[in-house]
Amino acid sequence: MASTLPDEPGQPPKLTQATLANKSNVVTEQVINPFEVSGGVDETGKALAIDFDKIVRDFGATAMTPALLERFERVTGKRPHRLMRRGMVTSHRDLDKMLDRYERGEPFYLYTGRGPSSDSMHVGHAMPFELTRYLQEAFDCPLVIMLTDDEKFMHSDKITIKDAKRYALENSKDIIALGFDPKKTFIFSDFEFVSGAFYENMCLLAKHTTFNQIRGTFGFDEHVNIGKIHFPATQSATAFATSFPHIFGEDELKTRNIPCLIPCAIDQDPYFRQCRDRAEKLKHKKPALLHMLFLPALQGPGSKMSASVSTSAIFLSDKPNEIKNKINKYAFSGGQDTAEKQRELGGRADVDVPYQYLSFFLEDDDELERIRQDYESGKLMTGEIKAICIKHLQQFVADFQERRKAVSEDVRADFFARKALLFQGKTAEQMM
Ligand code: TRP
Repeated sequence: MASTLPDEPGQPPKLTQATLANKSNVVTEQVINPFEVSGGVDETGKALAIDFDKIVRDFGATAMTPALLERFERVTGKRPHRLMRRGMVTSHRDLDKMLDRYERGEPFYLYTGRGPSSDSMHVGHAMPFELTRYLQEAFDCPLVIMLTDDEKFMHSDKITIKDAKRYALENSKDIIALGFDPKKTFIFSDFEFVSGAFYENMCLLAKHTTFNQIRGTFGFDEHVNIGKIHFPATQSATAFATSFPHIFGEDELKTRNIPCLIPCAIDQDPYFRQCRDRAEKLKHKKPALLHMLFLPALQGPGSKMSASVSTSAIFLSDKPNEIKNKINKYAFSGGQDTAEKQRELGGRADVDVPYQYLSFFLEDDDELERIRQDYESGKLMTGEIKAICIKHLQQFVADFQERRKAVSEDVRADFFARKALLFQGKTAEQMM
């Protein structure tokens, strides 16, 4: 068995940008699934970096290329999002096919989700949603957001059904405040929504999935509760458009031909590999995927942001002073110990948490590059790069909190309402 980096119950494991290094002398192999993320261990017992090329090699994902990003820009007329430009979207499955569809004016939808495991989300949780919001705008298409309160209940010893449902409700308001369009977005929680056509697709997937197939992919053994074994059918059912007749119409034969594109962190890939393996046999479209990296924890390389360790993460509910104190006190620095040495030798941007955060949050490419050069050449001090990082994070969180205040119960209900959603101004039925 490979070593486990245990996450708190119900929290997705965190990968970090700074874990992209080469490795040698692997003693235990890399494991990546929704419940365990480990780059393996070397002979000295040191945790190894996640090898993203291996994911591409072993699991048939395709590395993101500049040529594909150029095509994205040509086809959508939109400059790729900074997370795409900066390599945080590491790989994909069938993005090219979605671009073909977009060019031909054929409908598809976006699908993403969140396992609601705490009352408040942190800035790391916000990143895949930020990418999704941008994609919704770029493609002008429907979006389905799944809140897997059932998954978090099944996977945690602590979280009750009541807790999970409350987290789902609270998290949905945070997600809405990240800026989605209510005319094109449907949010649901499993405990509330699973029934009818959705439940039929769950059963269809479950019937065509064996315990053996799940065991290997997710690292389960025969002592695991059967809810965990069955849950992959639930997460996959959202990838079939026929699960949502209120969005795409009742004509099942037509709706089957509408695929989805799933922006997600790489740890979710096993669910959708399972789904892709059997989609066509079940006469549905395979989902396409975009894989992205996690935002590193404040402690930097080899550590993970945790919603229950307040010093590891910046929360969307943090006050300006808390953000400042956390960055100043806890953010791992790639700088030198003294100002003198920093001036002489410069800092290491590749492991510096304030720089890493800036590369996620700062929109201006030229400004980011200037900061990197100044930091590495020793012109910029550790305290200075931290101050820049604090300023941008405070702004991001303050803007978020402003929008969060406006998310009333009516606004939330609108996102949960069962209504048709438009692709380029048209319903699915009008397009087919
Ligand atoms: N399982 C995910 C989690 O624990 C939630 C989720 C459901 C999801 N469907 C998704 C995440 C699709 C990304 C894309 O967080």
